Amino acid sequence: MGAGSMTRDKLGRELRDLRVSITDRCNLRCNFCMPDGEDYQFFRRDEILRFEEIRDFVKAIIPLGVKKVRLTGGEPLIRRDVEKLIAMLSDLPLEDLSLTTNGLKLKEKARALKASGLKRVTVSLPSLRDHTLSKLVGREVKVSKILEGIQEALHVGLSPVKVNVCIIKGVNHEEIVDMVGFFRDMGVTVRFIEFMDVGNLNEWSMDRVFSVKEMRDVISQHYDLEPVERSYRGEVAQRYRHKDSHVEVGFVSSVTQPFCGDCNRLRLTADGRLLTCLFAQEGHDIKGLLRANADEETIRRFVCSLWAEREDNYSEKRLELINRGIIPKKIEMFQIGG
Ligand code: GTP
Ligand code: 5AD
Ligand code: SF4
Ligand code: SF4
Repeated sequence: MGAGSMTRDKLGRELRDLRVSITDRCNLRCNFCMPDGEDYQFFRRDEILRFEEIRDFVKAIIPLGVKKVRLTGGEPLIRRDVEKLIAMLSDLPLEDLSLTTNGLKLKEKARALKASGLKRVTVSLPSLRDHTLSKLVGREVKVSKILEGIQEALHVGLSPVKVNVCIIKGVNHEEIVDMVGFFRDMGVTVRFIEFMDVGNLNEWSMDRVFSVKEMRDVISQHYDLEPVERSYRGEVAQRYRHKDSHVEVGFVSSVTQPFCGDCNRLRLTADGRLLTCLFAQEGHDIKGLLRANADEETIRRFVCSLWAEREDNYSEKRLELINRGIIPKKIEMFQIGG
């Protein structure tokens, strides 16, 4: 199985995006991801993939069709020397290399990230109010601190900068309209994400989900948005644009309008496991192969057979499972990075 071979899973989906979690640690404790107060057992340093191992893995599977790599965490910017990893990955033939961050360290790191070859960043910011933000992220954080990071990212050209807002009904859904206006003026794409039942710790329930339809309805009372063509099959967010500017607004409707049919994402955890779904349980060890210095062909063969067996479509089955009272054990968000 060499370069150029097409990889399709059991539902006919190709492999295109790779999301690489580089640490399970985070300097925040968002309610919807990593609630404060739990006794988290983090991976030991020797359990975590080294940069060379990550690079070797990515390089090996690019011929299978991987075009886009996103680094995630936990919080990827707290991994020491993350710029070195980015420099190693930016030498590879990828169309897109990006990173999802909580923004706390973005102001100090943006320039070095850009210089290392990172193309763009996505920043998680669930509220524009200090009090709500601090409550949601489990730490005292000023909105201005994150906004400074976003400004710096724009300034050094890590664009398009996107902001992810996980919306929880009754907590931050009343901020949606304000956010649409605020980020339009800033020239930043804001994306509203339905609260998802990732992991088993975040006290998710259907009545805490504010649907994308509800979001669109409230926004349409204040702003005129028009749909934007998706740029490739399997793009997660539904994209719109302000009619009076180029700025986009996105919606991620994983709960009420699942998009598993086009899902082309493979995920690698910081400790070297591959997951074929955000809602998977444990994953498949790849670290063993990487640490045994397996050649690229062997790594590709492993990924190909994993992908060929893939039939995940959790979001399409969620409601049926809930109705039957089944709550599967799932990997936690901070171990997989969304
Ligand atoms: P772009 O590359 O800018 O389009 O971003 P992205 O959508 O690939 O990545 P991002 O990390 O910003 O993801 C946005 C939101 O969608 C996050 O909350 C993710 O958890 C969620 N998400 C991403 N991929 C999937 C997926 O395959 N399934 C589900 N259910 N949610 C996903
Ligand atoms: N539901 C929806 N989005 C979530 N995120 C984290 N936890 C959840 C959840 N339970 C988002 C964060 C981050 C992205 C990767 O995932 O806002 O931006
Ligand atoms: Fe950390 Fe991001 Fe999870 Fe918040 S959503 S706890 S910032 S990894
Ligand atoms: Fe892909 Fe799983 Fe998300 Fe469906 S639920 S879109 S299969 S990651």
